[in-house]
Amino acid sequence: MKTLKDKIRFEGRVLSSQVLKVDSFLNHQIDPRLMAEVGKEFANRFKKENITKVLTIESSGIAPGLMAALELEVPVVFARKRKSLTLVNDLLTASVHSFTKNETNEISVSNQFLMQDDRVLIIDDFLANGQAALGLVDIVKASGAEVAGIGIVIEKSFQNGGSLLREKGFRVESLARISSLEGGVQFLAEVEA
Ligand code: G4P
Ligand code: NA
Ligand code: NA
Repeated sequence: MKTLKDKIRFEGRVLSSQVLKVDSFLNHQIDPRLMAEVGKEFANRFKKENITKVLTIESSGIAPGLMAALELEVPVVFARKRKSLTLVNDLLTASVHSFTKNETNEISVSNQFLMQDDRVLIIDDFLANGQAALGLVDIVKASGAEVAGIGIVIEKSFQNGGSLLREKGFRVESLARISSLEGGVQFLAEVEA
């Protein structure tokens, strides 16, 4: 997605060979027009999958997840990272280990919002080692619903999440794929639609 890649080129900051900061449009300040385009692109890529629900994870997955859901005309549910006061019963949970932060967290979704006949599109902002996405997959499976695909705004292809998920047979669509952050942002060579 060209507008997204341009935004990354102009506003992304390489913090290290592993980490890209995109606080001006995705992770802190959010660019609504860009998110609307991101939503349209996800909807376009997954339009034949009969998606009935979008599942994402707070906080940075919510903006792209919401815009994809708006275009697909389905609800969006976000997994919580902390226990909510009112969300106590009938939780679907998964534990997610972050190699980046070296911590494991329990994520949860109420079983009210995922049904056996749902076809779920998982959306997240970044794909690094794939642990958040795998946690969301576990939650979908626990509900009896089906994972119809995984949509990622920025995939760091030099980390193993993308291959892990694709080897498991999931259709992963990433709108920008970064092959390296050494000496600046390098995108994976691919045909631009
Ligand atoms: P994984 O799920 O793919 O295994 O990723 P990892 O544990 O490494 O990621 C931990 C957090 O860091 C996630 O956000 C993820 O989106 C984010 N992240 C990973 N790599 C990058 C990067 O290069 N740049 C930026 N900006 N973020 C990255 P989170 O802590 O859950 O936060 P949030 O969703 O509340 O923003
Ligand atoms: Na994040
Ligand atoms: Na995230």
